Amino acid sequence: MIKFLKDIDVKDKRVIVRVDYNVPMQDGKITNTKKIDDSFETLNYLVKNDAKIIILSHFGRVKTEEDKKSNSLKPVFDYIKGLNKYDILYSSVVMGSMLDTMAKNLEPGQMILVENTRYMDLEGNLESKCDIQLSMYWASLADIYVDDAFGSMHRNHASITGIPRHIESVAGFLAEKEIANLKPLITNPDHPFVVVMGGAKLTDKIELIYSLAETADHILLGGGIANTFLKAAGYDIGSSLVSDEALTKATSILAEFPDKIILPKDVITSPSYSETIYEMKKLDEIVIDDVIGDIGGEAIKNYARILNSAKTIFLNGTVGMYEQLPFSNGTQEILEIIANTSAKKIVGGGDAGAAVKKYKYEKDMDFISTGGGATLTYIANRTLPGLEALEESDEKDIS
Ligand code: 3PG
Repeated sequence: MIKFLKDIDVKDKRVIVRVDYNVPMQDGKITNTKKIDDSFETLNYLVKNDAKIIILSHFGRVKTEEDKKSNSLKPVFDYIKGLNKYDILYSSVVMGSMLDTMAKNLEPGQMILVENTRYMDLEGNLESKCDIQLSMYWASLADIYVDDAFGSMHRNHASITGIPRHIESVAGFLAEKEIANLKPLITNPDHPFVVVMGGAKLTDKIELIYSLAETADHILLGGGIANTFLKAAGYDIGSSLVSDEALTKATSILAEFPDKIILPKDVITSPSYSETIYEMKKLDEIVIDDVIGDIGGEAIKNYARILNSAKTIFLNGTVGMYEQLPFSNGTQEILEIIANTSAKKIVGGGDAGAAVKKYKYEKDMDFISTGGGATLTYIANRTLPGLEALEESDEKDIS
């Protein structure tokens, strides 16, 4: 059984908190602080309860010395420090005597943000290969491990699945909330349960669709995902994006769940992604160089009818290439429709989360996951390596 932060005593204990501060950044500036802000509940609790806090996170991928500069967590440290809420220090190293001393000298309520755990990937992928020595080293810095990095729990990495093999380990508040909101989708959602699934690549999501088809009443498709299903259903989709590797599986899902998978009846197309020429077309009007960029008006009406009767809605991905203005209508309208339903509304992170933020529907949603790949993997596989590590940690006598 997974233990949670509230189940244990942290007073005067050294606590490693693994967070997911892999936030979007442009020119060294954080463009969305949600993942950081959502970690504060756990940090506040630890400060209030006199823990000595060591924060670990990865950021991006580090394969060369050059990558170190562009993947430093220093901008995240500056953001947190600038809030003037915490007594926070920064360790520019992820291993070694400087970090050992800083950790030893921590006062209750004080915290260190340690540099990007993936700096250790420069030493033979030690973090990403879940190296046992590295896991033991990080574990040696603390008495307790708190995993609050839900967005990274699909990774079998030293700072996620390695450390809990060596010290008492629990889930933090963010991770607890993610599980509480996502688990009902795969166990007992209120029906009708309607999923809106979009995004470019079907290969990433085909298992998720299959898994959700078991609990959902309807899965409304858009984006590149819909294109592949339209092709599988025998439509000519011109030059639109298709995931050929997923075509066979899409065909079998359509055959197994013919009433659950709902495809757009019309679409917005343009020849070769033109920003100026675009047309609403019925499926049988699509010609060879047409590219589908969005769902059409009939599809939106049909999806609205289904969404309006839903008791639970899960939104993952966007139904069109909403970053391009001519293809943004479907995404905006579907968000508006969802926002106005009385259903419980859960948003998978990634693109869907970004669109919800862009069109300012954050307050209308019941829960927006901080996970991208982790959320998809959790729903498709019904577990995550990070969660299993916490379960196993509870089962064995670590001392
Ligand atoms: C994410 O942003 O999805 C998580 O932080 C995982 O990042 P990764 O794909 O680099 O492991």
